[in-house]
Parts: sequence; structure tokens; C-alpha cells
Amino acid sequence: MTIGAVDYDGLIPNNVGLGQDPRVKRALEKWHPGYLDWWNDMGPEGFQSSLIYLRTAVSVDPKGWAKFDYVKMPEYRWGVLLAPQHADRKIPFGTHKGEAAWQEVPGEYRAMLRRLVVIQGDTEPASVEQQRHLGKTAPSLYDMRNLFQVNVEEGRHLWAMVYLLQKYFGADGREEAEALLQRRSGDPDTPRMLGAFNEKTPDWLSFFMFTYFTDRDGKMQLEALAQSGFDPLSRTCRFMLTEEAHHMFVGETGVTRIVQRTCEAMRAAGIDDPYDIEKVRKLGVIDLPTVQKKANMHFSLTLDLFGNEISTNAANAFHAGLKGRYREDRLKDDHQLESGTYPLLRLIDGAIKNEDVPALSGLNMRLRDDYVADANIGVGRWNKVIADLGIPFEIKLPHVAFHRHIGEFSEIHADLDGNVISDADWTKRRTEFLPSESDRDFIESLMQPQFEPAKFASWIAPPRVGIDNKPGDFEYVKIVDA
Ligand SMILES: [Fe+2]
Ligand SMILES: [Fe+2]
Repeated sequence: MTIGAVDYDGLIPNNVGLGQDPRVKRALEKWHPGYLDWWNDMGPEGFQSSLIYLRTAVSVDPKGWAKFDYVKMPEYRWGVLLAPQHADRKIPFGTHKGEAAWQEVPGEYRAMLRRLVVIQGDTEPASVEQQRHLGKTAPSLYDMRNLFQVNVEEGRHLWAMVYLLQKYFGADGREEAEALLQRRSGDPDTPRMLGAFNEKTPDWLSFFMFTYFTDRDGKMQLEALAQSGFDPLSRTCRFMLTEEAHHMFVGETGVTRIVQRTCEAMRAAGIDDPYDIEKVRKLGVIDLPTVQKKANMHFSLTLDLFGNEISTNAANAFHAGLKGRYREDRLKDDHQLESGTYPLLRLIDGAIKNEDVPALSGLNMRLRDDYVADANIGVGRWNKVIADLGIPFEIKLPHVAFHRHIGEFSEIHADLDGNVISDADWTKRRTEFLPSESDRDFIESLMQPQFEPAKFASWIAPPRVGIDNKPGDFEYVKIVDA
């Protein structure tokens, strides 16, 4: 076997030597049927006997780790894959900086570490649940395949977190692993742990916005955990990040193809005004102001995932060496942050103002600022497509105080530019900022399936290149059951 190769001989593919670890192997084998039950109940609705052209990891080598082939989703080889161990890795930050990275759970931080793993783990099945109805309205087989690829990989990310729980946290880890299969996105009694993961993903524009904005929060959290002094968590997250990149690609290119199609249709019809919504909609495409409203919604819901502006949990996790900053290993400072400050926006006497806070307390906002910068890159690419097609419209991310449910700005209402507005104004202007009932009805009316190879729904352009360099007429899904 080559370095990083995955053992596919047993029931559970892995590169962690499960064969020599009977206790954990047994625990995972016991958990496996419950996972399959969850997949059957809460995974993609329909298409479970269809053949999907999926990639499966055959190695964790950054290059050439995936093999593409037709797979039925329930037969996808979920497993436990960790990035290779770096010899002599040191804890890169916090009070233990420079000590050897932990290969076992440090007793004093056990509870904190378990909570970090459980919260990350909970988001993975949640997004599969949120997206489970989308297959039947896929705008093409190409898009359907991408949806299912994202879904099976989120399932694998759940496996990754469950492995850590089973291997390193004994009986309470086993309980948490069970609970991850019990909670349900949007269930009033047993919801998923974080707000954005209990929202609906009702249509494909939402799906692309979710994978662009919310999977990108996943990327930031995984980047921060990949720095962890607890080496098994670091290695787990490093491999998850290679899969995560595809999810954000799906979101970014999905929105690109939507705005491209809209602008092309407008040009062909001689419509210059992007706000002439009625005329644009008659072309069977999604008007740009509605795309903007969906971005406003998914962006603001995702910001809530970064937590409170001032956070002792974040400070403690950094101090302990469990959760670092985005690209901690490339930053040039003391990596301890016991002194120093970070500037962030707060609500002070009813107004939004900048304030310097102790650097450790502001870590959530630092990660969020890095997120916003990262999210803006793709938005710039969307705007380039719009500008190149000559339509006077620019997609903008709203102010961080807009439409918030967590943190200081949850107490106020703000418009897209961050001006504080009254409750009455908010109620009056809400549908100027966020999708209205009739926007949603319009989008829903467009969600007609297109299951013929090489064909695409009216509202989305074909991709520039196929997955795995396949030609445009490639049959990405062989539908057996719709
Ligand atoms: Fe994930
Ligand atoms: Fe993801």
C-alpha cells in the first residue's frame, strides 16, 4: 500500500489501522446499522437505487486521492480517513505552545474537546437532512450528481467525528455518537444544535447559497480545528478540508451559472434594467434582486454560526491549544495572544461602534472577519460575470449587523448598510431585504426537474467543464427510481 492508502478490505474503509484496534472497530460496527437507518430515513429522498457517478477516496494523498465510478448511494464506502501524521508535530499555539502535540485526550480539557467535536459532528448530518428533498427538482443530472456527492461526503464527515468520539471518549463518546443520529434538522423537540442547520433548504438557489456561505463556515471551523494541539482532530479536519473544497465549488459555480443565465436571457430579450423584475421573470430566469435577497439571508444566518462577539469559550479553547485561528501556522505573532487587542464591531448605547477588545476574547470575530474576506472573493467573481454581460448590477454582502439572531446585533434591526432601523421600519422593509412569499413562490415555480443528459433547466447555464473531465452529454446519474 502507498502512504496514505485506504484499507477497503473490511466493513469500514479506513487508514487508521482499525484491524488492529478491536475495541473501536466493534464500537463503529455497532454504530453502523444505526447510521444506515438514519441515511435511509433522513438522507436523500428517492434515487437510492440509482447509479451516481461519485468520487470515493482511495488515499489521503492531497493529489489523486479520489476514484470516480457509478455507485448506489447506500453502497457508498463511508469510512474513517485521517491525513498523515507529521512526525514531531508540536502544539502550535496557546499556553502549551511548543510542547509535543497530544496523541491522547488531555484530561484537563476533555469536556471542552468533546463539545468541539460534537458541535462539528452535528452540522454534518444536519445539512444532509436539510437537502433531502432537492433530488427530485434537480436542474440537470450534473447538478443532481453534485448534490449527492456533497451529501455522501457530509455523511463521511459525520463518520470522521464519530470515530474521534468512539476512539477517544469512551462511554460518553458512544452516547454522543448515538445522539448525533437522533437529532433532526428543524425538529421542534430534537433540533440540530446550531440555528442555520435547522433552516429549510427549499430550492436549488438556496442549496447553492448554502454550499457557498454555510459550507464555507464549515471550512473556517475545520481550518481552526486543523490547527488543534490534539493531533487526531487536526488530522481528521485536514482531510475533511480536501472534501469541503468541492462543496464550496458547487455553491460558487451554481450561483455563477444562475446569474450568467439571467444576464444572457436579459440581453437576448433586450432588457437592461435588472429591477424590471416582472419582465425578467417572464424569461424563466431568476432576477438578480432575488438572487441578492437569497444571499442576504444565507450570509446573515451563517454569520450567527460564529457565535458571540466576545467569547470566553473561544478564548479558553485557544488558550488550551484546542482550536486555533484561521491559518494559525502562517501567522506571525506570539501565538498566545495574552496581550494585544482585536478591533470589532459592538452595539454601544444603541449604536454600532468599533471597539478594541482583548485579542483572546475577540477570536470568534477574527475568524468571522477572515470568513467575510474569503466569502467576498467568490462574490467578486459573480459580479465579473454580470459586468461582462453588461448588466448594471452588483451583488453585495450585507453589513454584519443585518438580520442577526446571535450576538449583540440580535437586539436591534439594521438595514443592509448597517444603519439601525426601528421595528416598524424593519417590518415594512423586510421583503426589500429578504425573500418574500411571492419571491419564494416564483422560485418554486421554476424548480422543474430536468433529467435528460446534456440538458439544463431554463434558469441555469451549463457548467464550463464536466466533473472528472467528462463531456457535456455524460450521464452523471443513471436513474433507476425517481
Ligand atoms: Fe462537512
Ligand atoms: Fe460541506
